[in-house]
Amino acid sequence: MKFNSLVRPLFLVAATAGTAAFAQTAKPVVASAATPTTAAQNVVIDRALLNAFKALPARFEDPKNPITPEKVELGRMLYFDTRLSKNQDVSCNSCHDLNKFGVDGKPFSTGHKKQLGGRNSPTVYNSGGHLLQFWDGRAANLEEQAKGPILNPVEMAMPSAERVVETVKSIPGYVTAFQKAFPGEADPVTYDNLAKAIGAFERQLVTPSRFDKFLAGDDKALSEAEKVGLKKFLDQGCQTCHNGAAIGGSLQKLGLVVPFQSKDQGRFDLTKKEADRMIFRVPTLRNVAKTAPYFHDGSVKDLQTAVKLMAQHQFGKQISDDDAKSIVTFLDSLTGELPKSYIAKPKLPASGPKTPKPDPS
Ligand code: HEC
Ligand code: HEC
Repeated sequence: MKFNSLVRPLFLVAATAGTAAFAQTAKPVVASAATPTTAAQNVVIDRALLNAFKALPARFEDPKNPITPEKVELGRMLYFDTRLSKNQDVSCNSCHDLNKFGVDGKPFSTGHKKQLGGRNSPTVYNSGGHLLQFWDGRAANLEEQAKGPILNPVEMAMPSAERVVETVKSIPGYVTAFQKAFPGEADPVTYDNLAKAIGAFERQLVTPSRFDKFLAGDDKALSEAEKVGLKKFLDQGCQTCHNGAAIGGSLQKLGLVVPFQSKDQGRFDLTKKEADRMIFRVPTLRNVAKTAPYFHDGSVKDLQTAVKLMAQHQFGKQISDDDAKSIVTFLDSLTGELPKSYIAKPKLPASGPKTPKPDPS
């Protein structure tokens, strides 16, 4: 397998620190305390530790799929189009609602014939910053990922890629849009190109937050309470796994110190390698305050509990409710702005005479 490397957390810290994204390293910053009555109000964040993170880029580029306005426009239409599902009642947006921070708020999503999937829908926002896609990392990138749900029998349930292409070709407006998005190609309406268009659209689903301003050097971008929480997050070592631009994204073990009970064995179920047991792709913590319920099984409803479970299972520590609350206060600062006009539902091209009818079977 290509991605079975289990990067040890400590190694990861060293690796990320090596790619220092910020000029002002190792310069401890004294928080702007208006009323410096007690030492506790002067939170000192060691900026060297912040090198574990990276500011969010405006888009997650991949030279294999250059982003163009035409691809994005097409990808946006496909993202919202229920005609890519068998019964024409499920779109990507059904489970990854862009107005709801890219999730549906349910433990498991309902797809074709209201069937339930076996894992929680992760957000599509900032997921271009993940090293791999899906909870078990089985897709290398967004383009590969996008081909999955359309053919998944419990999600969009299309019988075959050929059937998807046939459907798209029956919609005249799409044929024109594919020609524009993939100029010079003899037969631009392909399943690969469909995935590329969706991928290009998703690569710009980014939500910059106050934390990015803080990373860029603006010490006032976070409140005192948020800095207290950030310090606790860093002191615990959460950034050994939740790091980079997405504040997550690599493969790590769930239950590193204390086993986490789950029927789902993560990457092991895919590779059957013992080393992959309970290995999951670390989710982004951006917008995490808005993407409940938590974990691959959607088993945890509130963020404070999720934070306490992380401390327990990943570090073997019981942290107090107050400490967990404080970390949650910091996590709130990772809630970004939704790109309202970018995610507005577009007008979809009209069906043609040969466009298949919904199939509820
Ligand atoms: C029926 C609900 C459903 C539909 C429809 C659906 N997804 Fe998902 N999506 C999920 C679930 C559940 C997962 C996690 C599955 C897993 O990890 O095994 C997921 C994972 C993803 C991921 C990976 C994110 C990450 O952080 O790993 C992306 C990106 C994504 N979906 C995009 C899409 C796109 C694009 C479409 C439309 C082509 C789509 N999804 C349709 C439920 C859905
Ligand atoms: C050893 C790596 C590692 C460490 C250290 C770690 N996490 Fe995690 N974190 C993960 C993984 C893996 C998951 C996904 C678990 C799953 O499969 O459900 C996760 C999930 C989460 C979630 C749920 C997110 C969601 O969308 O479902 C939160 C919140 C979280 N971690 C916060 C923290 C905090 C706070 C700390 C520090 C106390 C921390 N993590 C330390 C690896 C880690």
